[in-house]
Amino acid sequence: MRTPVIAGNWKMNLLSGDAVALASALNSALTDASAVEVIVCPVFTVLAAVSQALKGGRVAVGGQNCYHDASGAFTGEISPQMLHDAGCTWTIVGHSERRQLFGEADALLNRKLKFALASGLNVMFCVGETLDERKGGMMETVLRQQVSEGLSGLTEAEFANTVIAYEPVWAIGTGVTATPEQAQDAHAFVRGLVRGQFGATVSDGLRIQYGGSVKPDNAADLLSRPDVDGALVGGASLNAEGFAAIVRAGVSAATR
Ligand code: 13P
Repeated sequence: MRTPVIAGNWKMNLLSGDAVALASALNSALTDASAVEVIVCPVFTVLAAVSQALKGGRVAVGGQNCYHDASGAFTGEISPQMLHDAGCTWTIVGHSERRQLFGEADALLNRKLKFALASGLNVMFCVGETLDERKGGMMETVLRQQVSEGLSGLTEAEFANTVIAYEPVWAIGTGVTATPEQAQDAHAFVRGLVRGQFGATVSDGLRIQYGGSVKPDNAADLLSRPDVDGALVGGASLNAEGFAAIVRAGVSAATR
């Protein structure tokens, strides 16, 4: 049984007062969520304050991105060591917004992934196709490329600290969720790719989150699918009650 991992990607939202208030509300709401792993990923400027607010509770903290070096002349970047220093145990790498808006490609993301893991962080590594790619019958080709190059060279031990987030780009922030069947099919396909490249031990243990318009009212159905091992939640993670409801759907899926 894979422990579901439910993460909130706060994206570029919330100033410190609202971020700490949300974290504190989650800390109180999620005391009984031990059957799942819960993470929030705030903006860099509030990481330390959010980490402090969540100290001793059930919710871990992650960055939304990081660079593949520890320090140096990389203006505007942040290192895994700095995320760790601010209280993070996780980071997202390869979110589709980084790929699309900031031109991050698989070779770069592979370097980031490996450096974050080598620096002691756990990583949520994102993959997913655009609407045009899906309509053009390219979904499997795109996922194959993102998995084979993005995860290239990872060891079995590193996979223990890696989660894949399948986030179809057409479902992100659009209110259009992949159906549970579409999510299950894509997750099974990704797991098969990982099995082919890294073997059954890795693929059987790998957690694959779904992301893209996950809400309290669709989370349970998505999380009930055999290859859906969690959720990476954007908009709905900005509301404590809504995110707590999604976490509880994860708890129900884990304890069924
Ligand atoms: P939404 O849940 O807002 O669609 O965002 C999904 C996402 O991109 C999480 O990383």
